[in-house]
Amino acid sequence: TSNHLRHVESLATLPSGAGRISKLNAVILGESLASEEDDLVFPSGDFSRQAHVPSPQKYLDMYKMSIEDPAGFWSDIASQFYWKQRWGQPVYSENLDIRKGRIKIEWFKGGMTNICYNCLDRNIESGNGEKTALFWEGNEPGEDGNLTYNQLLQRVCQLANYLKHIGVKKGDAVVIYLPMLMELPIAMLACARIGAVHSVVFAGFSAESLAQRIMDCKPKVVITCNAVRRGSKIIYLKDIVDAALADSAQNGFAVDVCLTYENCSALEKVKTKWQEGRDTWWQDVVTKYPTTCDVEWVDAEDPLFLLYTSGSTGKPKGVLHTTGGYMVYTATTFKYAFDYKPSDIYWCTADCGWITGHSYVTYGPLLNAATVVVFEGAPNYPDSGRCWDIVDKYKVSIFYTAPTLVRSLMREGDEYVTRYSRKSLRILGSVGEPINPSAWRWFYNLVGDSRCPISDTWWQTETGGFMITPLPGAWPQKPGSATFPFFGVQPVIVDEKGVEIEGECSGYLCVKSSWPGAFRTLYGDHERYETTYFSAFPGYYFSGDGCSRDKDGYHWLTGRVDDVINVSGHRIGTAEVESALVSHPQCAEAAVVGVEHEVKGQGIYAFVTLVEGVPYSEDLRKSLVLTVRNQIGAFAAPDKIHWAPGLPKTRSGKIMRRILRKIASRQLDELGDTSTLADPSVVDQLIALADS
Ligand code: WTA
Repeated sequence: TSNHLRHVESLATLPSGAGRISKLNAVILGESLASEEDDLVFPSGDFSRQAHVPSPQKYLDMYKMSIEDPAGFWSDIASQFYWKQRWGQPVYSENLDIRKGRIKIEWFKGGMTNICYNCLDRNIESGNGEKTALFWEGNEPGEDGNLTYNQLLQRVCQLANYLKHIGVKKGDAVVIYLPMLMELPIAMLACARIGAVHSVVFAGFSAESLAQRIMDCKPKVVITCNAVRRGSKIIYLKDIVDAALADSAQNGFAVDVCLTYENCSALEKVKTKWQEGRDTWWQDVVTKYPTTCDVEWVDAEDPLFLLYTSGSTGKPKGVLHTTGGYMVYTATTFKYAFDYKPSDIYWCTADCGWITGHSYVTYGPLLNAATVVVFEGAPNYPDSGRCWDIVDKYKVSIFYTAPTLVRSLMREGDEYVTRYSRKSLRILGSVGEPINPSAWRWFYNLVGDSRCPISDTWWQTETGGFMITPLPGAWPQKPGSATFPFFGVQPVIVDEKGVEIEGECSGYLCVKSSWPGAFRTLYGDHERYETTYFSAFPGYYFSGDGCSRDKDGYHWLTGRVDDVINVSGHRIGTAEVESALVSHPQCAEAAVVGVEHEVKGQGIYAFVTLVEGVPYSEDLRKSLVLTVRNQIGAFAAPDKIHWAPGLPKTRSGKIMRRILRKIASRQLDELGDTSTLADPSVVDQLIALADS
């Protein structure tokens, strides 16, 4: 048995049922246990009996198969999908070892398929045509809609036909900048149907960020809408797109078409600025096209989408996912981690602008013929009970969200939750950052009435789908632990030298072999792919996360170990925020670190030095924050600006972030050795200015 399997086998030695009552009671009563690691929360016997994976033993059997024979394991699953032509041999080929040559990951190469066909046509053929595919809940309560699988296919085909008509071909990029309307998954699926590569940009990104992404992938068309309501605000998205398109055109790249969906019908069309020849209303053109559209069969390794994400250095990276492996992987992880059954109603609160919305609003659930709730609005509008109102309205049985939302609702008081029945709920899910045990317990005890297992899914934009996640009926959970690896995933924990560590330990989380949903490259920059992810610890994919493993083999994610901050579950590179700050004419230098934040998980803390002679003022602070909002987006706005006459640097000029992190978190007695600084007195200055 490999070392890796041994960690997982420790599961089998866990007490099953013994101690169940006393420990569960302790959890419900909120008693603190001797150690979090000993805190086991068991699924009920009834829950386990009906689950796809009902016991640790069943998991172990399947897991072993997936590791010992990945080709066989994944081929069996892949065969359940429609392939125009079956894949060739070998089923997969990989090189994750930079010392042996170029990094390469391929799955099901030679197989011809189409993910849109598998989401829609295939499910319709098997009798799901009249099943609801999407429930749409608008920002305003009472504003809603829905589409069956048949209707969704028709809508997708109309848009696909339109895109073909304006010249979008297989392999072309399409940028989508839309809020959570049904048109967003429709646009993604339409691209997939014709083999175009979608690049969805979260509609909270600024014009500048959007322009950057447009210039990088050079789409023929940008799909957007005139405006969106979010809570009590109206955001004029088309104005942002106009600015981005002007910016991009000035830099030598002009898109042919800006397809604009008319949302917020209360707003008059005339208010939207229009560039004749380039701008087209969706409703004026798309609805004229036929409701059937032939599928473009693509190779399993043809690109499906690009999604930009932040790294520790430089501009955002275009993570590229291909078709076949991603399809098989998102569908399978969805089915097992949420113990999905055809009668489930599924709601994931993520926006399709992030990976969670790609894999677990659109592709994973639709591949399983699931009914998906798409929510346009804000979870605290009109009040903090909105989520549970939606759960009751649609009888949601699987509810998947982020710890930041759990924490923010927790602060509003239990009343907003207990006002609603929530009886339909069966499973809860968490993603985006570690969920702290107290938020876990509130979610479990209050929202789920101590009845619903929580799937705390650890994964990344790069991994395409879940990597470490509970299988809810299979084993007891520990609040705050993502538990065990999914089938086919071999996580390892390594030390600074890249040596795998055994047993109870903590270190850097890596993965030692490929899985079907892995990203294949960074768009246009395979070298950056290799250096960012495969060079730190040769032989492994390095996640950028720290992790520890306890005596029972459970995994505990401890957060990023690189210069990436995780704010409300959104990844932001410190370098991006710094470069936005220094673009301000009065800012000389900036250093950004993450600090603990009660609701957001991490907050953004920025140290800035000013241009000689410029005094620091409240107006300047506001204008610095505004600069970041304008350049990246509101979600990246610093929580704190700390004016610094000087920054702590080594004699060679390197900023010592370790010290800045301690100052930011006010752990002033843990500053450590400051004698190697070029000017140790800047530290005292910074401390003196900390709360000014
Ligand atoms: C963090 C989001 C702990 C982690 C799917 C990772 C988590 C980054 C969890 C990826 C979790 C995500 N527990 N940490 N369950 N899920 N993370 O690319 O730091 O937006 O590296 O993908 O989020 O963020 P990304």
